Amino acid sequence: MKPLQIPMPGERISETIRRIRDEGGPVAPIELPGKVGAWMVSSFETVEYVLTNDGTLFSKNPRNFTALNDGTIPPDWPIRQVISGDHLLVKDGADHRRLRGLVNRAFTPGRVQAMEPRIRQITDELLDRMDGRDGVVDLVRAFSEPLPIAVICELFGVPEDERHLIRGYTNVLLSHTATPEEAAAAGGGLLGYLGEFIERRRVEPGDDLTTGLIRVQEEDGDRLSDEEMVWLLWLVLIAGHETTVHLIANTVIALGSDPDQLARVRADDAWEDVVEEALRSRNSVVNVFFRYALEDVLVGGTTIRAGEPVIVTLAGAGTDPARFGQDAGRFDATREPDVHLGFGRGPHFCLGAPLARLEVRIALASLFGRYPELRLAIKEDEIAYTSSIITEGPLELPVVLGP
Ligand code: HEM
Repeated sequence: MKPLQIPMPGERISETIRRIRDEGGPVAPIELPGKVGAWMVSSFETVEYVLTNDGTLFSKNPRNFTALNDGTIPPDWPIRQVISGDHLLVKDGADHRRLRGLVNRAFTPGRVQAMEPRIRQITDELLDRMDGRDGVVDLVRAFSEPLPIAVICELFGVPEDERHLIRGYTNVLLSHTATPEEAAAAGGGLLGYLGEFIERRRVEPGDDLTTGLIRVQEEDGDRLSDEEMVWLLWLVLIAGHETTVHLIANTVIALGSDPDQLARVRADDAWEDVVEEALRSRNSVVNVFFRYALEDVLVGGTTIRAGEPVIVTLAGAGTDPARFGQDAGRFDATREPDVHLGFGRGPHFCLGAPLARLEVRIALASLFGRYPELRLAIKEDEIAYTSSIITEGPLELPVVLGP
């Protein structure tokens, strides 16, 4: 079979994924930019299978991709900077468990809960700034983008006037239209900034997660190295805001274009259901990119050979009719709850899931609480989306706040 290509010009990445699933089947050969051959896994069953066998049948470490002799990733690979880093997302087994265990010592449920009042406050401040604005407002610039950046930067103690750096570098790193040179400069720029930032925090500790991680680092026993620390912040600051920005905006699109559903959600105060339904059907993370088969593995009736790369698509799994019925693509917050894979599954399950759930719920409940008649100012099919290969959300979201 001729390999299918992603991304396709003029098509959203989630649409491409669903098309490939429907045309090519749940395990389809595809071709990525740079003529990289890979398998795309896109039914609920196959996605769940690969994720739960992370570390045993599949690896996240590019060294296990046999086409790469020495693990060096070619410059034209999509999101090369992210997968050639040295962080949680490219580690397996004991290495991964060790690092995650160390992070968990500082990033506790208590720390997430303690953020709640601040999340509410930041949300309200952003809404206050929007108050009184009639006409069309770009909700991305005014709300869905600044909120998660402020929250994650505050969690880590990144000063307000340096936050734009995090956003700027992330935009380049996750874009598939950035040149290899631009991506390398952004990846290096963010590492350099964080190295310097961590040193500042060592001298001037605060009540933030960076200081918490420095304490873990300084404790006796199995410590975080300086390099591990920089890479950890690098990953979490990227993963911790981009994903949330887009999930908030994607959900506003779903509810802002369906006033009846919005009214029901408000009447039932069903914001938790809204967040879960968004993670299933409108997820910001459309795929979790490469796994590499550690041996020949039969997935959904197709043999993936040892060393071949696999792209695991959450946009495929979340809208799989075999699991969620013929209307799987429809956003319906009253749907009978079912398990979704929006935060992944297995050893790499999202580290920030409790924070993300809290943040998105507060954002949506507060936004629609303040502006119950908020609606889209353009048609859904006129919305332009980001050019990333792994995350998806609107570039701009023009809305009208009131009648
Ligand atoms: C991992 C989704 C928010 C930090 C993941 C994975 C998914 C995901 C699907 C699994 C990746 C894989 O299996 O390869 C999301 C979504 C979010 C969100 C949809 C928001 C709506 C956050 C936040 C943080 C965060 C707020 C940080 C506070 C991470 C980290 C990993 C991860 C560090 C890597 C975990 C590991 O490899 O062990 N996320 N995430 N995420 N997420 Fe999130």
